[in-house]
Amino acid sequence: MKRKVITTSDGSTSIEMEEWGETYHSIHGAIQEARHVYIERGFDKINKPVIKVLEMGFGTGLNAFLTLVEARKQGKKVEYHSIEAFPVTEQESSALDFSALYSTKEDELLFKQMHQCSWNELNEITPNFNLHKIHSTFEEAVVNQCFFDVVYFDVFGYQFQPDLWSVEIFKKVYDALDTTGVLVTYACRGPIKRVMKEVGFTTEKVEGPPGKREMLVAYKL
Ligand SMILES: C[S@@+](CC[C@H](N)C(=O)[O-])C[C@H]1O[C@@H](n2cnc3c(N)ncnc32)[C@H](O)[C@@H]1O
Repeated sequence: MKRKVITTSDGSTSIEMEEWGETYHSIHGAIQEARHVYIERGFDKINKPVIKVLEMGFGTGLNAFLTLVEARKQGKKVEYHSIEAFPVTEQESSALDFSALYSTKEDELLFKQMHQCSWNELNEITPNFNLHKIHSTFEEAVVNQCFFDVVYFDVFGYQFQPDLWSVEIFKKVYDALDTTGVLVTYACRGPIKRVMKEVGFTTEKVEGPPGKREMLVAYKL
């Protein structure tokens, strides 16, 4: 399916799936949404010196880069695993602009390195941030069990890929989470909440990012 790089309302870029009109992030602001959903409601809630993250959909690498920046600020270490079946091309990744997040010239290089590093092995991006990009579909990916502190569930909308908001996929991430683990997602539909509950999650609706009233946080315990 054809994709194009777009600019969102906070000046940061994202990607649009042209046939669907579905974007990788909110058009109201990619950085703003990603920070609210995944960092503030997910990463920031984990009170550990080393945090293990599982992301569903590496995409532009924005969530990964925001996590690196936040971990650096908080003096934490991160092991970041991210599943992606359809990686962005080199042309797409060089057209992405997340420069608002860069505090030095080196940050731009770190972002590039995240895209250029090899798949299916752990790469040291900085001494405090290791990245394991898993080139696979969500359906086929094999992930560690009882291992992750937080899951960033960032798949395309329910109306486009309902099969990814299924018992099978949520069971996979439920099993991958440590007992105190938490899952965050931008979505909040009733059927999604019901599937989460079916696999054992306790769900909580919280305030969404600008442009979206609510989002979901799900706890394994
Ligand atoms: C909403 S975007 C993710 C955005 C990403 N987290 C970011 O920060 O840019 C959804 C991602 O899921 C990927 N994807 C779609 N179907 C998939 C599947 N069946 N298995 C694995 N990845 C898939 C897409 O290629 C896309 O990168």
